[in-house]
Amino acid sequence: VKLFLVVLLYYGRPRIKKVYKFHPLQVDFWKPDSPDLVTIGMNVDIHVPAAQLDMVFTILQQSGMEVKVMFENLQEAVETQMDNKMATKAHDYTKYNNWATINDWVISISSANADLISRQVIGNTYEGRPMHLLQIGKKTSSAKPAIFMDCGFHAREWITHAFCQWFIKEAVSTYGSDPEMTNLLDRMDFFVLPVFNIDGYEYTWTKDRMWRKTRSRNSGSSCIGTDPNRNFDAGWCTTGASSNPCSETYCGSSIESEIESKNLANFIRSNKSIIKSYLTIHSYSQMLLFPYSYKYDLAAHHSELVLFAVAYAIAALRSLYGTRYTSGPGAVTIYPSAGGSDDWAYDLGVKYSYTFELRDEGRYGFLLPESQIKPTCEETMLSVKYIANHVLNNP
Ligand code: ARG
Ligand code: ZN
Repeated sequence: VKLFLVVLLYYGRPRIKKVYKFHPLQVDFWKPDSPDLVTIGMNVDIHVPAAQLDMVFTILQQSGMEVKVMFENLQEAVETQMDNKMATKAHDYTKYNNWATINDWVISISSANADLISRQVIGNTYEGRPMHLLQIGKKTSSAKPAIFMDCGFHAREWITHAFCQWFIKEAVSTYGSDPEMTNLLDRMDFFVLPVFNIDGYEYTWTKDRMWRKTRSRNSGSSCIGTDPNRNFDAGWCTTGASSNPCSETYCGSSIESEIESKNLANFIRSNKSIIKSYLTIHSYSQMLLFPYSYKYDLAAHHSELVLFAVAYAIAALRSLYGTRYTSGPGAVTIYPSAGGSDDWAYDLGVKYSYTFELRDEGRYGFLLPESQIKPTCEETMLSVKYIANHVLNNP
């Protein structure tokens, strides 16, 4: 039996002069995604194997860092979440659904709503699973502008998969009754990729709940997987990414080395004349990020992205349950990191390109309880709808 602990470290702002890197301890970084991204003054969430706990505590105490334990026993928390899982296999919007359940649901919801949804497969994953993409919108004879949205880049960010399912349900169930959704779907299309990194997601259900990357083999290394959000053509592997296949932020052997990245990029490239906005859903941190992350330069549309879209989008989100988001260019708001799909899409010409980091801020992190799925999805819907309206009115 493996015992894990998650420790939240407060790097005391005025006092800490030194940043500790945990490579030799093999600590699992939750926030930021890898030790290379730690900077002075940052709060850091890590997951420590029980056997190394004393050592980690000693190091932290000696260096004067404040430590707060968030999960005494992570293994137990994971198992409790999993126990409920095995019992219910039916699809449920307020629960985390595994890939088999999501796959069946994707097929049935598309055929049950053929007037609003068309389904296509944009390619298979490394392990051969089909990447279903749903086009949602009233079918018209003339071309409509579109928003592309994906969930599940990173396998352990389960709330994101739940959000894409929720979005699709809301779209089809409120079309015709909610004037805002009706107007959106009449005048534009949403391309929704409910699970990008399917192989990784399956792995989080069967082997390791904390898996992040894809599941592809790396030649010359026994370490598996690439960080798909470091694998795109946007300053590829220059900053905030690693060329070590064992790193959680491995950029891959080349740009779009991952078949999942290539499938997505090919689709967006071929449809770039209609795709006006790209939304990529991650967790956690409660942030709405926009380009750039691979450099400190401001995006050409910075003032519009900031003033007219982002501020209102997070205000809309907050209006429901008071959830506070921060926003800004990725490089300064979260950390500089190259190869992200948001920067790539933006440089391709997709002006409204955003990364969402959903709930929470670290209390539960990737283990966000199922009781928070509904409120998280409801509030996120408000900001996605706000952005969609903005895109429609400011093409
Ligand atoms: N947590 C996300 C990641 O590290 C943030 C992505 C922000 N955008 C970016 N291009 N790095 O993948
Ligand atoms: Zn992520």
